[in-house]
Amino acid sequence: MTTLIVLDEVDPSATLLNADDGTEIAAHLGQHGVRFERWAVQPGDDPLAAYAGGVAALAAEGYTTVDVAQLHPDTSDPEWGAKAAGARGKFLAEHTHADDEVRFFAAGSGAFYLRVGGHVDIVVCTAGDLISVPEGTRHWFDMGTAPDFTALRFFRVPEGWVGAFTGDPIASRFPTFDDLA
Ligand SMILES: [Fe+2]
Repeated sequence: MTTLIVLDEVDPSATLLNADDGTEIAAHLGQHGVRFERWAVQPGDDPLAAYAGGVAALAAEGYTTVDVAQLHPDTSDPEWGAKAAGARGKFLAEHTHADDEVRFFAAGSGAFYLRVGGHVDIVVCTAGDLISVPEGTRHWFDMGTAPDFTALRFFRVPEGWVGAFTGDPIASRFPTFDDLA
């Protein structure tokens, strides 16, 4: 289930908000300039075709490049564990980007951690969720130790997705995706 958990930035044991209503989540995140939408989940194996309307709408806003990122457990692959850990580790520490980080989850889930307003807003995204983390926003992303998702990634700026790591170990103090699942 899509969930927003707001924790204090300094004391993660203090839960300030726990919401699972899409409208409430969008309203809270909107205060910080973070866009959140819930799209109707569409059938089909090709997310670019299934969500062509949404893709076209974002292209009209300037997000003209889109691709599909996906990871699904493959226990028949002896290297799956290492691949999963490698993928998970890429953006597990606090960072920013020069472009908005816009993701739509067509399937599966993952958790964005947004450091905004003295809080850490944890958004556990599931199928049908669109989130846009504004450029320059401190955040990290946890796909868990068993990554399982299909996401569309939207870009305005080539290479805008490159992470600028802050060096702050804040992520290590917060519950992981596995903890939240
Ligand atoms: Fe990021």
